[in-house]
Amino acid sequence: MTNRPFTVAIDGPAAAGKGTISKQVADHFGFAHLDTGLLYRAVGARTLDGEDALTAAEALVPADLDREGLRTPQVAEAASRVAAMPAVRKALVAFQKGFARRPGGAVLDGRDIGTVICPDADAKLFVTASAEVRAARRHLELTGKGLAVTYDEVLADQLARDARDTGRADAPLTQAPDAMLIDTSDMTIEQAVARAIAEIESRMRGD
Ligand code: DC
Repeated sequence: MTNRPFTVAIDGPAAAGKGTISKQVADHFGFAHLDTGLLYRAVGARTLDGEDALTAAEALVPADLDREGLRTPQVAEAASRVAAMPAVRKALVAFQKGFARRPGGAVLDGRDIGTVICPDADAKLFVTASAEVRAARRHLELTGKGLAVTYDEVLADQLARDARDTGRADAPLTQAPDAMLIDTSDMTIEQAVARAIAEIESRMRGD
């Protein structure tokens, strides 16, 4: 390992398991964790309140990430829309890059971490799963919170969001060439976390 802080970049589509993997990986190594989707969700939530997206992005403070209601499908949709605006993305770069340089090491998860925010990350993972498996997981999560949504609605919303996140011109969701692919479709969360930790340890050894 070098003396500079170790940075882990984890990207992938919605509900592939990257949030859970990122949290557990960060706990395992004692690194700080930033779910960068929350930045876009916080901006999206403010646009739902009538605020201008760029004004909201420029005024964003860390406390906004703790705001309630950021995990709803409406906010996810608004987040995906503001995330397609280059000026909004640009306004959020400095905060993410600063977080990545935390002295104790950092895990950032999102869509463009390994490609745009931290192209020099020490370890990069691309976590994915089939659209059906992801929709089934998200459906379970939302109905578990008491939301009345059908599997078909969740799948349709997710496909629309995936298409927007993958098809946008600025920082689209894509696997970095040097990222390790983890397809969690047929894995338990424990298996996926173990795979991620093994890959990061191998990068720490410089294998
Ligand atoms: O990961 P999530 O579902 O919380 O992300 C919400 C939206 O934010 C998602 O549709 C795409 C966008 N996003 C992004 O464009 N870049 C990131 N690094 C993280 C999220």
